[in-house]
Amino acid sequence: MARKIYVFDTTLRDGEQVPGAKLNLVEKLDVAEQIAKMKVDMMEVGFPSSSQGDFEAVQAISRKIGKDVSIAALGRAVRSDIDCIYESIREAENPLIHIVLGSSDVHVSKKFGKTPQQVIEMGVGAVKYASSLLPQVQYSLEDASRSEFDYLWQTIEAVVKAGATIINVPDTVGFAIPEKFGQLIYRINDRLKNLDPKVMLSVHCHNDTGLATANTLAAVKNGADKVECTINGIGERAGNTSLEEVVMGIKLHGDYYGGYTTVDSHQIYETSRMVSATMGLDIQVNKAITGENAFAHSSGIHQDGLLKSKDVYEIMDPETIGAPAMEIVLTARSGRHAFAHVTSRLGFDIPETLSAEIYKKFLLMADEKKEIYDNDVLNLLNSCSLVC
Ligand code: KIV
Ligand code: ZN
Repeated sequence: MARKIYVFDTTLRDGEQVPGAKLNLVEKLDVAEQIAKMKVDMMEVGFPSSSQGDFEAVQAISRKIGKDVSIAALGRAVRSDIDCIYESIREAENPLIHIVLGSSDVHVSKKFGKTPQQVIEMGVGAVKYASSLLPQVQYSLEDASRSEFDYLWQTIEAVVKAGATIINVPDTVGFAIPEKFGQLIYRINDRLKNLDPKVMLSVHCHNDTGLATANTLAAVKNGADKVECTINGIGERAGNTSLEEVVMGIKLHGDYYGGYTTVDSHQIYETSRMVSATMGLDIQVNKAITGENAFAHSSGIHQDGLLKSKDVYEIMDPETIGAPAMEIVLTARSGRHAFAHVTSRLGFDIPETLSAEIYKKFLLMADEKKEIYDNDVLNLLNSCSLVC
């Protein structure tokens, strides 16, 4: 039976960590409302102990967003951070405390200067305290993909017994590769489901080698119940797993993954544009799903095929993500079929006797200008006396 894959958006926490992308309270509220419209399951909206501004934004979002989306905030495994998270999210209808603590050797010895056992005790103490405040507690084993498996499991077992309801396995530095990450998730899931089947297994990947989406989907295939991601894949360094890529991956290949998501993909385009504009972060033109060229076709062969039937070269209808219809970009590689499509869209029916000559002129123009826009076509038709 297909299982639900929970989508946790962290655009307003990990995404907002991009230098220069900081939002003010009103902007954060607007973005949070748009993300909620997308019907994600959980939304992480800040690190309240980091600043008064972050605290207030988390609190305002918690008051505004309804019960359908769980509101999460992040903090370290220390009481003062947990108190701050609790204060900022307690008015949310469905709040979630998120605690992060390193689990790899470098984190344990170099970052904390503690013994592995001391770090486990710190995590257990934090989870016990957090779960005395709220029922939903997520524990993230920072740098999990570079951690030693036995230690990882020892920590998971201890924090689950202490009350953690979600175990998050981050590839913090984007080091993982899909096959290995999938195996890691498989091993954890196998034990976790025996330990407590109610505990959710989550993943959080970074994109340092461009594999965040592949790693996340490999994790889903191997038992992950929940995925963490950001709109447009924004986030620390090379960014996080892109929400739109994972959501569409699951929607297009639900049978393979044995899962589904209830995210409303029709809101993706608008959310993507809003996040980009509000945070001042341009979207790469060839970005999968949301880039400007994601549904633009310029090769003559492709244009001809598409005009015969869209599914020849389109794996999803742009409408599925709320994007404008596919675009035929006229260039010197466009054939007569594509050119006729554009002229007819502009309202012209070119007589057979003139079509060869006009197409020749179009090619000359395209060689010179590279890309031909509607206005260029109108000018061309005008020069051929087809437009008054
Ligand atoms: O990358 C990371 O490890 C994180 C954790 C807080 C989940 O962002
Ligand atoms: Zn992260």
